[in-house]
Amino acid sequence: MNHELVYNRILSETGLDPRGPKMGKDDLKLIEQHCGTDFNKLSCLVKRRLSGEPMAYVLGRLYFGDLELLIDKRVYITDPEAIWLVKEMVRRLTSEKDSKEVLEVGTGCGSLCLAVYKQVNRHNYTAVDIDIQALDVARENARIHQMDIQFYVSDYFFGLPEHYTPDIIFADPPWGTEESIYDDDRPADHYLAMPGISVWPFKSITGIHEQIIERILEKGWNCELYMNFGMLGLDEINKALEKAAKVVFLNPVKNVTIAHIRFGGF
Ligand SMILES: C[S@@+](CC[C@H](N)C(=O)[O-])C[C@H]1O[C@@H](n2cnc3c(N)ncnc32)[C@H](O)[C@@H]1O
Repeated sequence: MNHELVYNRILSETGLDPRGPKMGKDDLKLIEQHCGTDFNKLSCLVKRRLSGEPMAYVLGRLYFGDLELLIDKRVYITDPEAIWLVKEMVRRLTSEKDSKEVLEVGTGCGSLCLAVYKQVNRHNYTAVDIDIQALDVARENARIHQMDIQFYVSDYFFGLPEHYTPDIIFADPPWGTEESIYDDDRPADHYLAMPGISVWPFKSITGIHEQIIERILEKGWNCELYMNFGMLGLDEINKALEKAAKVVFLNPVKNVTIAHIRFGGF
């Protein structure tokens, strides 16, 4: 048995060539590395990829920053651009000498919170998600990486302990529509494979961003919020921020806008 024999068999069975354009750049190489000489596994994973399943689910792994994380269909596949939100949080939290309460809203597989924790672990980290299954994945990732993060199933802040008060919140809320794609590697199908609640916001494209702001105002927290708006335009972003008084925009690279918002008596 060898790789070429497997690929020729798959081509004859599916009509799709694993060496052809259906596979993304480097996908086949990654799958081969993952399978070694287990040719049954190779065949399974190649066929799943050819069927359109995103690579992260096929491999069961997400490589984010220098973290290797478990991932499956229960959770959102972290966008590579989210690393800019992580960098911003690391910069902000490194400048804080005292220990702060840091909260991530919508943690998914935990990737962002774990990546921040890995670089600045002197703060207290809490992460929430509306999806109990996503949190199972996040908890497992935190356990594997031995990170002390408190996780709560929570619709916005409703599931947090009563007296919990964050100093710094960060979030990469869903802002998708089927037209909004970053590049050819991530067409609508990539997002359609993920849990709906993690991809499609309610009410409007920035519906979740707006609710996070409203819920913070309702709580009356004195805190900072860093929210990723991805590649949304300034008009959409400004509309979402109507109720936020003190806002600074950060544009670490083209097509990424992070809003830094201060609430309360700063
Ligand atoms: C775009 S995904 C980002 C996930 C993760 N931060 C990442 O970068 O991979 C948005 C996440 O927000 C969660 N979410 C959606 N609505 C929520 C709500 N009302 N309260 C808490 N989490 C919510 C989804 O379940 C999903 O995991």
